[in-house]
Amino acid sequence: MQLSRRGFLRSASIAAAASAVLELPSLAAPLQVEAAHRGDIPATAIKLSNNENAYGPSPKSMAAMQTAVAEGNRYPDRYNHQLVESIAGFHKVAPERVLLGCGSMDILRAATGAFLGPGKALIIPQPTFEAIAEYSNPLGAETVRVPLDSTYAHDLDAMLASATKKPALIYVCNPNNPTATITPRKDLETFISKLPANAVVLMDEAYHHFAVGSPGYESFLDRPMDDERLIVSRTFSKVYGLAGMRIGYAIGNGATLKRLNAFRSIECQNVAGVRAAIAGLDDQDYVRMAIQRNAADRQEFFSQAQKRGLKPIDSRANFIMMPASRPAPTVIDFFQKKNIIIGRKFPPMDNYVRISLGKPEEMRQFWQVWDQMVRAIPATS
Ligand SMILES: Cc1ncc(COP(=O)(O)O)c(C=O)c1O
Repeated sequence: MQLSRRGFLRSASIAAAASAVLELPSLAAPLQVEAAHRGDIPATAIKLSNNENAYGPSPKSMAAMQTAVAEGNRYPDRYNHQLVESIAGFHKVAPERVLLGCGSMDILRAATGAFLGPGKALIIPQPTFEAIAEYSNPLGAETVRVPLDSTYAHDLDAMLASATKKPALIYVCNPNNPTATITPRKDLETFISKLPANAVVLMDEAYHHFAVGSPGYESFLDRPMDDERLIVSRTFSKVYGLAGMRIGYAIGNGATLKRLNAFRSIECQNVAGVRAAIAGLDDQDYVRMAIQRNAADRQEFFSQAQKRGLKPIDSRANFIMMPASRPAPTVIDFFQKKNIIIGRKFPPMDNYVRISLGKPEEMRQFWQVWDQMVRAIPATS
């Protein structure tokens, strides 16, 4: 689904003229998705805060980026097209069903534009990855936060009840950030089949790769559900190690995808990122290796936690949510002073911290500082 540059410029200038006479809603707050996306973090800090792949991209992606440097004078059209074709081939769908985004966050943004506004509702689990709520804030939609259930899965019955009240965009994050837990496939299928016609589901599978094989988990891209109301988003920022290159995508169908497409960012990709993504997708050996390495690092984290009598939530991702028995901001602050950045706070889990897995040496330092923190700060719960 492509819009010509001239067509885009024409519609952009119409929009600009319209905004000059319209009163635009003011932003409630600046986007604060991840505190650790700040610029004041020293380059030497150990970064266990953004669920990145600490080991970097595949060597093939790196080579593709290096080659792309000389093409920095050209728009990425040709490679965008190639990436769309590659993604379509990989997931066995028609290229028309694939939309690229500047990271999958851009897909979330487009979805809010496409499906939200006054009189509509964004329904999200709590806690979750809040970007979508931040994007919907200025659009005048209601945000309904539905607490996770006792197994840290989405409370689908409660989400369904909210979705019947007004047209809704429902955000499903599977595995969920920050809890790293999954919501079973069969429950999601039942949920989707019961939704009213005016509801749309955005299924965020950013952490899909790390959950493969978990009991009850199954991706909606690997085994699609033929329902026009469903959009699935994926990213190259996690297992592919390309967070800095900002490439994500959505796969959808019919009128829902058409509407999402109308709100996508036009040509926000860059040649290096797109070429890296093409090479990354083509290097599934690297992906398999990264999944195995993550599983080993995760296992080691749980062994270390167990030695200390800690009980993290069972993780199906590349990060772990762990009770700290102290207020999260205090713990975050303690670590920051020791040059280690851990995840932000996730209300209402106020005494939990989210740790993204780093390399073994980084994790050794994490545990050293953890032990110092436990000695220095009395437990409050
Ligand atoms: C659940 C989830 N979805 C989407 C994103 C955004 O990823 P990106 O925009 O880098 O693709 C993140 C980032 O951490 C995330 O945790």
